Amino acid sequence: MLNLKLPTDPNWANIAEKNLEEILTDHAYCEQKAASAAISFMVRYPEKEDLVTEMIKLAQEELDHFKMVHDHIKARGLKLGPERRDNYVNELRQFFNTGANKENILIYKLLLSAIIEARSCERFKILSENINDTELSGFYRQLMISEANHYTTFLAFAKKYGKDIMDVDKLWNDFLAFEAEVVKNYGKKEHIHG
Ligand SMILES: [Fe+2]
Ligand SMILES: [Fe+2]
Repeated sequence: MLNLKLPTDPNWANIAEKNLEEILTDHAYCEQKAASAAISFMVRYPEKEDLVTEMIKLAQEELDHFKMVHDHIKARGLKLGPERRDNYVNELRQFFNTGANKENILIYKLLLSAIIEARSCERFKILSENINDTELSGFYRQLMISEANHYTTFLAFAKKYGKDIMDVDKLWNDFLAFEAEVVKNYGKKEHIHG
């Protein structure tokens, strides 16, 4: 259903669980970046009422996720560390032509958000099925469902706003193949996309 071409090795969950402070801190900033991205869609494309309406909801939901992760950090006596750079996402950005116009950039950004949601959802599923901490396992199952919905939302908007200006299905398939190449080098660190 997520269309990702390369599944993550479940052993990654064991690496992640060994350093909860690191994975939870990294996760918190994934939620913050998702909230910030939703806000930036609202600001850059104010004329698209349906997109703005959905992005308001999404920004609130992602900030709520940030709060939940922060609560888990506090409850365990851990500390929220400084923001982590997300190399995986930075590599994915290189797929798109940055010289494009504003309408094309919208489609690129929507597809980028869709793929990040899909991979995050997959990683949350792996965490929920493989970690021993039952509270966190339930938390990740809940988030997995939420991120799957976000994935569907972004992809639907990309198809809606892209259908008259490009072959969105082809671009999406090429991007999925690119992502599979990128993600080959990950799955070794205690980061959500690490
Ligand atoms: Fe989220
Ligand atoms: Fe999300």
